Amino acid sequence: MKTLVTGGAGYIGSHTAIELHDAGHEVVILDNHSNSARAAVTALRSLTRHDLPFVECDIRDATALDGVFSEGGFDAVVHFAALKAVGESTVEPLRYYDNNVAGTARLLDRMAAHGIKTLVFSSSAAVYGNPAAMPINETCPPDPQSPYARTKLIVEELLRELQAADPDWRISILRYFNAVGAHASGAIGEDPCGVPNNLLPFIAQVAVGRLERLSVFGDDYPTPDGTGIRDYLHVIDLAQGHLKALDYLGRNKGVFVHNLGTGKGRSVLDVVRAFERACGRSIPHRIAGRRAGDVVVSYADPTKARDELGWTPKYDLARICTDLWRWQSTHPHGFGDQKA
Ligand code: NAD
Ligand code: UD1
Repeated sequence: MKTLVTGGAGYIGSHTAIELHDAGHEVVILDNHSNSARAAVTALRSLTRHDLPFVECDIRDATALDGVFSEGGFDAVVHFAALKAVGESTVEPLRYYDNNVAGTARLLDRMAAHGIKTLVFSSSAAVYGNPAAMPINETCPPDPQSPYARTKLIVEELLRELQAADPDWRISILRYFNAVGAHASGAIGEDPCGVPNNLLPFIAQVAVGRLERLSVFGDDYPTPDGTGIRDYLHVIDLAQGHLKALDYLGRNKGVFVHNLGTGKGRSVLDVVRAFERACGRSIPHRIAGRRAGDVVVSYADPTKARDELGWTPKYDLARICTDLWRWQSTHPHGFGDQKA
């Protein structure tokens, strides 16, 4: 298959591009580098020992998309390109709607014009908001709590309407839980701009000495150790979910929604201890106030992905931490340590 990976220089897109390439796909990467380094593409090429085609362009640029698609031969698009910072989306909602919603509409329009009607879309567990019951399955009513989460839900609805209007579309909506870890080679990984918002990148930067200590956002939640609980999924398991989704779309027309998560909830302190074991250092931390907008507990019911896609995550929290530490310890400043 010839597959376009939008946002393929970013964290999840780059790991998925490798898995697709290894599985025999002809991969073309598209990214505007708004949140990724040029060196990520260099690293992907050396890791795959293949001169992966890369197009620097924006998904909102119809002319540039036409240029890519008119090369011909594309079977599918795996669409990661989006802005993803929840806090930032509350400050710059227009930028989020333009990039994530209008950008996706533009991409779909140009795909349809070139007869490409197979898409895997990166949605998020953020569409569920604060569900009443755990674990979360796909029938749980969406209740997005931020402009970011709303952009994901709006695109999901757009995709359903598109498929209703033209039943030739084959669309997989994947709702990711917390993507973490790095490629086992240590050659690529997550490289957040500025101070990380998310737990594992923050811990990894404390371990490597870039940050002094972790603030644990609340230890008075109604959980066994008082800290928040999440479903942490190795990025390679997540990447494999996209291969399974593409296989499924090869056999089925329609629009399909699947959670990608492990089904296991881990507390903040569980993660701190697991990372300490992986890196052999202690992670200085202090208890801070709760972070506004945080849910207490969130973990997936991944049964539907297992039964329909045949997808089961392989890697545990220990492996997540070992792989993340390999990346962070060899690249203390992320891709900034490499020449583009
Ligand atoms: P990322 O920021 O590392 O990757 C996104 C990539 O898309 C970046 O390389 C960025 O430069 C590119 N991009 C953004 N807007 C673009 C545009 N208009 N045109 C071209 N390229 C553009 O983020 P990620 O963590 O790899 O997330 C990938 C996708 O998964 C996103 O859609 C995100 O919303 C979704 N998601 C991520 C998580 C997570 O835990 N990281 C969880 C749920 C959903
Ligand atoms: C956040 C996003 C979500 C996105 C996900 C994965 C919000 C509200 N949600 O989810 O949309 O899909 O990232 O990228 O931002 N924690 C600390 N100290 C820290 C950082 C985090 O204690 O410095 C705690 C949090 O309170 C939470 C857990 O660690 O209990 C996980 O936080 P984080 O990694 O930010 O992910 P989410 O909040 O689940």
